[in-house]
Amino acid sequence: NFEKVWLGAALLLIVGFIATISYGTVGAGIAMVDDSGGQIDPQAVQSGETGTTFDDPGVVKQNDSHYVVYVVAQQFQFVPGSGDNPIQVPANTLVTFKVTSADVMHGFAITGTNINTMVIPGQVAEVTARFDETGTYGLVCHEYCGAGHHTMGGSVEVV
Ligand code: CUA
Repeated sequence: NFEKVWLGAALLLIVGFIATISYGTVGAGIAMVDDSGGQIDPQAVQSGETGTTFDDPGVVKQNDSHYVVYVVAQQFQFVPGSGDNPIQVPANTLVTFKVTSADVMHGFAITGTNINTMVIPGQVAEVTARFDETGTYGLVCHEYCGAGHHTMGGSVEVV
């Protein structure tokens, strides 16, 4: 009857709104920065004794549609990320980067995206993104962190 049709239309509209909001946050490349994250002791990060995944940082699969990448920033490299240890994540999947520092303040930016956060010792910076396109993206430290700052970078391989 007529009332049911009206109710159905209203529900469709609500679903439509939610879809629009979701698209706004994760579509078209990227999303959301939250660097208010958890507290962590930088010296424990340095010595690998945090009792967290930061002691053996890397990519952790949560499920088929969500990966978490734990990254330690330190003078003057990202682990993983720098040298012959690129970060590898799949395309079209939610990827949360959790980044902390083992020493001083660093930056964490991925070129060609709007992923860009400060990495403050004692805190865990968190950025969630979705890469729409495969390829190799540059990883850059954009906060001055000492004599080797300009050499601090790496890569993210989206496969
Ligand atoms: Cu690390 Cu600049």
